Amino acid sequence: MCTKETPLRQKSIVLIGFMGVGKTSIGKAVAAKLYRDFIDVDQVIEEAFGMSTVDIFATYGEDNFRKKEKEIIYDLCKQKLKIISLGGGAFLQKEIRDICLKECIVFYLDLSWESWKDRISLLIDSRPILQGKSLEEIKQLFNERKAIYQEHHSTVKTDAFMVEDAAEYIVNALKTAWDIYEPQAKP
Ligand code: S3P
Repeated sequence: MCTKETPLRQKSIVLIGFMGVGKTSIGKAVAAKLYRDFIDVDQVIEEAFGMSTVDIFATYGEDNFRKKEKEIIYDLCKQKLKIISLGGGAFLQKEIRDICLKECIVFYLDLSWESWKDRISLLIDSRPILQGKSLEEIKQLFNERKAIYQEHHSTVKTDAFMVEDAAEYIVNALKTAWDIYEPQAKP
């Protein structure tokens, strides 16, 4: 469990950003590099409901998805040493932003619209939020969400990065911060 005294080196790492920017694949790579457990919040929600996100939205509605999302993130944020990937809509809830920023280290994966829009066809079937929207409407959502993601501890611009490069960047940024704020005694 996290407390006010939780050392920076032990805090869980949270990845935020729009749908399909690579939170899960980059999160898994960071977890492997740091020998930590990786948790995908969407997967935990799907396991709790016993169905896919598309089916949860269709059967129980977005509100119930969001309630469960908040409950699960609250629980996960209290745990140390995890790498946690959030769904792209999670940071819309202020309570989620607040708990993540307080208990964890939050990295924003920032991909440009130009790079992101080529991924739409790969995402549309599994992302209910995108379904039934025109490209213009999706672009508007993309820009609205960008504003919400501005509350974070560190940004990674992922346009020029492959998964491994982005993970390496995050690990190096963390190690630099750990050494500055929590230097370890040299043997
Ligand atoms: C959502 C993003 C999805 C998933 C759900 C809603 C959103 O997660 O939580 O479909 O509102 O942006 P990913 O960001 O992992 O695609």
